Amino acid sequence: MPNHCEKIWFNGKIVNWDQATTHVMSHGLHYGSGIFEGVKCYTTSEGPAIFKVHDHIDRFLTSAKIYRMPTPFSKEELVQGCLDIIKENGVENGYIRPVAFYGYDTLGVHPKDCPVQVSIGAFDWGAYLGQDALVKGVRVTVSPWRKFHSSSFPTTAKANGQYLNSMLAVQDAKSKGFDEGLLLNQEGTIAEGAGQNIFLVKNGKLYTNEEDSSILMGITRETVIKIARDLGYKVRIGRLSVGQLLSADEAFFTGTASEVTPIRELDQRPVGSGGRGPITERLQTAYMDAVHGRNPKYTSWLTYVHPASNNDLANKNDGSSYGASAQV
Ligand SMILES: Cc1ncc(COP(=O)(O)O)c(C=O)c1O
Repeated sequence: MPNHCEKIWFNGKIVNWDQATTHVMSHGLHYGSGIFEGVKCYTTSEGPAIFKVHDHIDRFLTSAKIYRMPTPFSKEELVQGCLDIIKENGVENGYIRPVAFYGYDTLGVHPKDCPVQVSIGAFDWGAYLGQDALVKGVRVTVSPWRKFHSSSFPTTAKANGQYLNSMLAVQDAKSKGFDEGLLLNQEGTIAEGAGQNIFLVKNGKLYTNEEDSSILMGITRETVIKIARDLGYKVRIGRLSVGQLLSADEAFFTGTASEVTPIRELDQRPVGSGGRGPITERLQTAYMDAVHGRNPKYTSWLTYVHPASNNDLANKNDGSSYGASAQV
């Protein structure tokens, strides 16, 4: 079974995979009423470390708050849950999936007294769009499904039901032989990939969009903006059009699972030179150095799984937080 792990952190306890179950009448199953995160853990010279776990758990709790979902665990308990499940499953380079959803009490749409269940799974998982894609880039199609507007759903929340929109886009892309779908927003400018934010490169400058383009405010997006600025690149934030993408020198996706993935083609037209561009490659290398703890400047983004090497205090105090768009 792919993406399988021995143990699951389930409502505060470590249980066997088979014991982490819920009832088929759960509210979350019927209405998609849940929120989740995707977090990654990487090998470093000091053992495995979780990348920006505090930012991910902050966003998790913010998503719950937006949906008025009471979360029975504190930020500290959830961060500890992520660390514990990585240790339990012996994960080195892997993916962590915290989810909170409504269990069963009523089938009414209002969740009323449905109990909130929280679980965290973790397993080894490589690059989401494939190792090859990191080098060669991905082929993308503009999705016939538009990204929902922020007046319909809180686009900054990572909520389960909202991902039906992404699922439609990726199913459409795969059925046409592409790797990923690119969703436009209701205004017709670019929103994001089905599970990634997007950057363009033109004349040595970087361009990406923000909240008003109906995107999830990606933690990788924020990381790449910081790294790019540190490397001396100018990063402009604003709306992006399909025309801009087609005339860009380079383009790439960012995401926790997708990392920094070059976009080589849009609907059978090459983007830039049709491969991984030099600035994309530089940022990709810098990103991988950061997540693997190879750049001392960014080790405060890591939370080491084994306490002897824990740099956690610095992480808590570095002032960065999810959605700190003022810094970008
Ligand atoms: C729709 C969508 N946009 C953007 C992203 C990138 O977000 P992050 O960098 O926080 O993983 C994701 C990641 O899961 C996503 O699902």
